[in-house]
Amino acid sequence: MSDKYPEDSGRRRFVKGVVGGAALAGVGASGAAAINSATTSPGAGGGSTQAMAIENTDGPAPRGMPQVPIEIDSEGYLKGVWPEVKTIEQQGVQIQVAETEDYEGSGVTYTSEWFQYCGVESYAGIEPDYDSDNYFISGSNPGYDWQSEAYSEGDRLHVDDFSDYREWGNGVGQSGIGKGATGRWRSEDAEDVIPIQVLRSERIEEAAQNDPWLQASTQDGFIAWLNKCTHFCCVPKYKTEGSEKFNAENDVYCQCHQSVYDPFSIVETLFVARPRPD
Ligand code: FES
Repeated sequence: MSDKYPEDSGRRRFVKGVVGGAALAGVGASGAAAINSATTSPGAGGGSTQAMAIENTDGPAPRGMPQVPIEIDSEGYLKGVWPEVKTIEQQGVQIQVAETEDYEGSGVTYTSEWFQYCGVESYAGIEPDYDSDNYFISGSNPGYDWQSEAYSEGDRLHVDDFSDYREWGNGVGQSGIGKGATGRWRSEDAEDVIPIQVLRSERIEEAAQNDPWLQASTQDGFIAWLNKCTHFCCVPKYKTEGSEKFNAENDVYCQCHQSVYDPFSIVETLFVARPRPD
């Protein structure tokens, strides 16, 4: 499935001031005038972007939340992979981008533009060469009790702490379909924290068997995504208290306006990514 609002529908296209982003990528002939204004206020990257995402299944959100490909280091700590940092020329100006073509042979182009919405495009951690070790870090007020017991603020998420993922539950919905954690990514010493959510599930392990993208972007049943609702940028949660009323107790639910995302359904989405500011 693709975006609920495909490019040619014209809906929601430029509502959040993304004209510059579209123009930078040369999207559409009508972008010509905006290209000139874009040179006075450059910004980098942005434009029409295809991202792999956990599917939006209900509520007002326009599309799914973008995945963060996972890597597990030799000691069992979980990391989000950042795309390759390159310098390219855009309208006569050298800019840096983070982009990996054909990610791990999956055919998917993975770029930092996946995360450039909701103001995240101006977060320090989205700068291509931001200095980060890319580990997923547990925060001071994690989303699950098990995390408060297992971790202190600043600890890295570790595979061993998910070993009960086939049974785990938090009293919301069905137990045993996957264990969730909340955290941050690429946010060392940053004013704005990039929120992510991680889930380990047998369903992901199974889905990855026949899917080149999931094989490349998940590991041992672990999947992660940028946890910013594509509606108005709240931070949703997997298995949230109160989500039962909306049949979202086994999904990712946004309390702000009841958007629902299915973390077991990974889809391609199309949207206009916002350019990074100067
Ligand atoms: S549903 Fe509106 S911000 Fe999430």
